[in-house]
Amino acid sequence: MATALPTAEPTVVERSFSPEAEAELQAIIKKYPEKRAALLPALRICEREFGCVDHGGMRLVAQKLDLTPAYVLGTVSFYTHFRRPSDGTFVIEVCRTLPCALRGADDFAKHVSRKLGIQPGETTKDGRFTLKNAECMAACDKAPVAQVNGYNWELLDPKTFDELLDQLMKDPGSFDLRKGCKDPYPWTAPAEPTAGRTRPDGERDYEHEALTHEPQLLRRCYKGRPATYAEYVADGGYKGSKAALAIAPAKVTEMVKDSGLRGRGGAGFLTGMKWGFIPSTEQVAGNRYLVINADESEPGTFKDRKLMEDDPHLLLEGIVIASHAIGANDAYIYIRGEMVYGAEVLEQAIAEAYQNGVFGPDALGFGKRLDCVVHRGAGAYICGEETALLSSLEGGRGYPRLKPPFPAIKGAWGQPTIVNNVETIANLPFMFGAFGKGLDWYKGLGTPGLAPGVDPKWPRGRLGSRGPKVWCVSGHVNRPGLYDVPFGLSLQQLIMDPRYCGGIRDGRKLKGIVPGGSSFQVLKADQVDVALCYDAIADAGSSVGSAAIFVFDDSTCMVNALWNVLRFYAHESCGQCTPCREGSGWMEKIVGRIERGMGTMEDLATIDAIADQACGKTICVFAEAFSWPAQSYIKQFKDEFVAHIKQRRCPQGGRLCAPSQARPQA
Ligand SMILES: Cc1cc2nc3c(=O)[nH]c(=O)nc-3n(C[C@H](O)[C@H](O)[C@H](O)COP(=O)(O)O)c2cc1C
Ligand code: SF4
Ligand code: FES
Repeated sequence: MATALPTAEPTVVERSFSPEAEAELQAIIKKYPEKRAALLPALRICEREFGCVDHGGMRLVAQKLDLTPAYVLGTVSFYTHFRRPSDGTFVIEVCRTLPCALRGADDFAKHVSRKLGIQPGETTKDGRFTLKNAECMAACDKAPVAQVNGYNWELLDPKTFDELLDQLMKDPGSFDLRKGCKDPYPWTAPAEPTAGRTRPDGERDYEHEALTHEPQLLRRCYKGRPATYAEYVADGGYKGSKAALAIAPAKVTEMVKDSGLRGRGGAGFLTGMKWGFIPSTEQVAGNRYLVINADESEPGTFKDRKLMEDDPHLLLEGIVIASHAIGANDAYIYIRGEMVYGAEVLEQAIAEAYQNGVFGPDALGFGKRLDCVVHRGAGAYICGEETALLSSLEGGRGYPRLKPPFPAIKGAWGQPTIVNNVETIANLPFMFGAFGKGLDWYKGLGTPGLAPGVDPKWPRGRLGSRGPKVWCVSGHVNRPGLYDVPFGLSLQQLIMDPRYCGGIRDGRKLKGIVPGGSSFQVLKADQVDVALCYDAIADAGSSVGSAAIFVFDDSTCMVNALWNVLRFYAHESCGQCTPCREGSGWMEKIVGRIERGMGTMEDLATIDAIADQACGKTICVFAEAFSWPAQSYIKQFKDEFVAHIKQRRCPQGGRLCAPSQARPQA
């Protein structure tokens, strides 16, 4: 929710931009159909020029963009990630969200607080450091994580943090803040020949396929630097976009429909079908826009970040294909404000792409203009919801909008718009012939669709789950990380097999799994033998969501885990709808009370009632995003909630889980 601005600033400093900054702002304004959309980028210029966004800067920006100072202030106050005048030289933000908390973030945060001698929200007396609590930074496999001025410091423990801090204090002017970023777990599939085979019972052997599958989406990742244009091309990149541009847009959309690609952002909606909703120019005249959802803020999700930071051209090639199909000349990549490095990588890759004629007035030599712009958010989970993202892109608070109309009909600046997730778009080059692949190869990966009634095991049929896929595993496994294995492998295999996550840490037992991100239902250990595909996970009572798999071992207090999840949602509700604004905070308080041994049995019924009052009655599905986990944790682990209430204490002494004995295995 909106952050409180300091109520009083002693003096409003009169601000003006340097000629270079002024020129930069004018160039930015030209990238958008309306001036107001340049608001967040203009505020970033203020941060750079003046060290923060202060009242003087906000007034200046208001004047430059023909807005009122009140409008600018109202917008800034919605976001948490602008540098404020009260911030120290270095802002240290420690992630406390569940996947990090499962790996010791709470103890680590206490250490940072002690080391700096300040509490979260405070600044050291010398003005050097400000400490803040933060939400998931899309690096959950490298927990505990902190950000320093927007750059990640990963796999922290007190010793590594102190060492980095000492180095920073010795030479604050030239210390490279990216030094704290770790990239330790390049996972590669065993080198066996790729071959399909069936099991003795005649079923398709997904385990064998997964084991012999070479990483596709992550192929150029884990080099410790982004793959260049030349490397991408040498691998067969940009062949897909060239082929697609030679095909009529409607046919490209048909091929994407045929591929079975489902959106990787959370809902699993069929991508080609969504594109098909774009009205013809006779129906709706004017521009079409492609907007890439690179907000990646669903706790536990960290695939898009890796794809963008390590292989940006894969996304850019997908953007060319999607823009062609929907008739867009402008593509915007809305990237999370916290992903400072990712935005830098994308800017550089886009510049390379322009130099090589991928974008520009004659994109790839096909006589069409295509421009691509990176737009940084500023710290608000809700901006991952597609209509909130569009509100933010247009230069406003990230408020979701009622659907219908859906963005495909009325999206950015009131025009037909397709919003797609990074990984969704990164799938496209494969089906159009990049890297020596093609549509048949694409359709052969994963689980096929099935009509209802054909297979007694799937009486309702299934939509299928096709194409390459990246899974994000965090929490209590030996090897948290990204796994590029196709749909169909079992969740059990992914978690337990030494070739993947290597089982549960410290030889403990599995207790529960969230398969799709913190907004979705938790499964119990006895449900782990389920195929990783949209249909099977839905049948098990949860969702593939954003493929963010959290693993809980038997030391986890599920009441405490739910409390953590609800703290996140109570903080992130945008506040427009009463059932969500009040319900999320109310649930969080109730579960906190139960965890501290002060709950009652009626509280459990109240949580259900709050969920019933919120779900389906709000502008967006954020209400479901906090209600589903609440209801499912209580249903699946009711005995733990009852034990807290009856014993009037947390049976585990208020700890989320046992501290880890071991560092993650490489
Ligand atoms: C509260 C909320 C947060 C969301 N966050 C993200 C996100 O961070 N990234 C994302 O791609 N989709 C997110 N989504 C889903 C988007 O609204 C949208 O469905 C998605 O970007 C569509 O792309 P796809 O069809 O390629 O999946 C979120 C949805 C909700 C309700
Ligand atoms: S449901 Fe919550 S997050 Fe969504 S619009 Fe309403 S208040 Fe905002
Ligand atoms: S980075 Fe901390 S929970 Fe994701």
